[in-house]
Amino acid sequence: MAVSHGRDWYQTVQDESLLLLSSSELFLTDQQITFGDAQEIGVGMLFPVSTGGAVFGIGYYQLSQQKKQQELSFHQPVMVDEVLSWLSTNRNGVYLDLTVGGGGHARALLQRFSRYGKLLGMDQDDEALTACAENLRPWKNQVVLKHANFKYLADFLAEEKVEKVNGILLDLGVSSHQLNVGYRGFSFINEGPLDMRMDRRQKQGAYHVVNTYSESELRHVIWEYGEERRAGAIAKAIVRTRGRRKIDSTAALAAVVAKVVHRGHLNKSLARVFQSLRIEVNWELENLRLALQAGIDHLDPGGRMAVFSYHSLEDRLVKRFFRENEKRCTCPPEFPQCICGQKGILKILTRHPVTAGEAEVRKNPRARSAKLRVAERL
Ligand SMILES: C[S@@+](CC[C@H](N)C(=O)[O-])C[C@H]1O[C@@H](n2cnc3c(N)ncnc32)[C@H](O)[C@@H]1O
Repeated sequence: MAVSHGRDWYQTVQDESLLLLSSSELFLTDQQITFGDAQEIGVGMLFPVSTGGAVFGIGYYQLSQQKKQQELSFHQPVMVDEVLSWLSTNRNGVYLDLTVGGGGHARALLQRFSRYGKLLGMDQDDEALTACAENLRPWKNQVVLKHANFKYLADFLAEEKVEKVNGILLDLGVSSHQLNVGYRGFSFINEGPLDMRMDRRQKQGAYHVVNTYSESELRHVIWEYGEERRAGAIAKAIVRTRGRRKIDSTAALAAVVAKVVHRGHLNKSLARVFQSLRIEVNWELENLRLALQAGIDHLDPGGRMAVFSYHSLEDRLVKRFFRENEKRCTCPPEFPQCICGQKGILKILTRHPVTAGEAEVRKNPRARSAKLRVAERL
């Protein structure tokens, strides 16, 4: 039984194990609470309490060590062993981590490198770069970090006087930090302003999209980037609600969605709506296309590109891009020589995407949706 479908947040009250919860992720089952990936964080007692019409759950809740660890760290990188084995082919090489985040993957790569190996890291999130610089401090002479959108990778390489690199890593989407802190506005679990800008120098965030786009533009965004079936009803509800009052927080948006989506589907729909807005705000698919192209233009022959995607739109884009660049000669086999002139420039190394093993998914739920595709420059 769901306890509350109001605001989605949880808050530490006294110490890390006593929590006040009010969440559509919160369920009461035989006096045990489950919150999100409950098996990851243990269970506790819950006492539903009513205050001014809203129902909260107050519970003594024991966070497992593992969950505490995850909450403390900026981001737990996924499939680190796989990144090392697919990407790290040259210990003295130059590698480009286009989504360096907290530097989890970068750190693992640097541990592999000889002292001649070099890592160039980009991220458009200033908070990520601060955390990353700290994390990679032991290798500071081998690392250069750049605060920029990855579509500008060619400019970064030119600045560093690097023509070709031995490997490129893209670990798409958001970091745990971006999701965990309410003030970035990425998550419907943690209340905050409707923001979702990865680059905080950018002018407009999700508030602009939600409060100024027309109903048909909103429907388009939610349908195309969220693949949400109720896109039409949600767009209509947004426009109706903002006619009375601006929708200015993640909780306010979640409440609008909750009005038109069946309770049983609410969390999935919220995840899709928030994903769609994030993609629109950050121009994620356009930027990814540009980065993939610029990336292979700067890969040394034998160099590899590894891409993690977390939803089907990204994965489809990466898969198609790799295939288009793998195109081979289309001349009939009986032709003595090629006349079509089509030459592939990539060799796909992962016919099917590589996914995380069960043990990793248990430890790091984010790994569940990660798909890794790798291609090699010919
Ligand atoms: C999943 S996290 C990467 C985590 C990183 N691999 C680690 O081990 O810590 C994705 C990061 O990519 C960044 N990002 C997403 N799109 C970007 C873009 N177009 N340009 C630069 N950085 C981007 C986000 O700001 C975020 O920090």
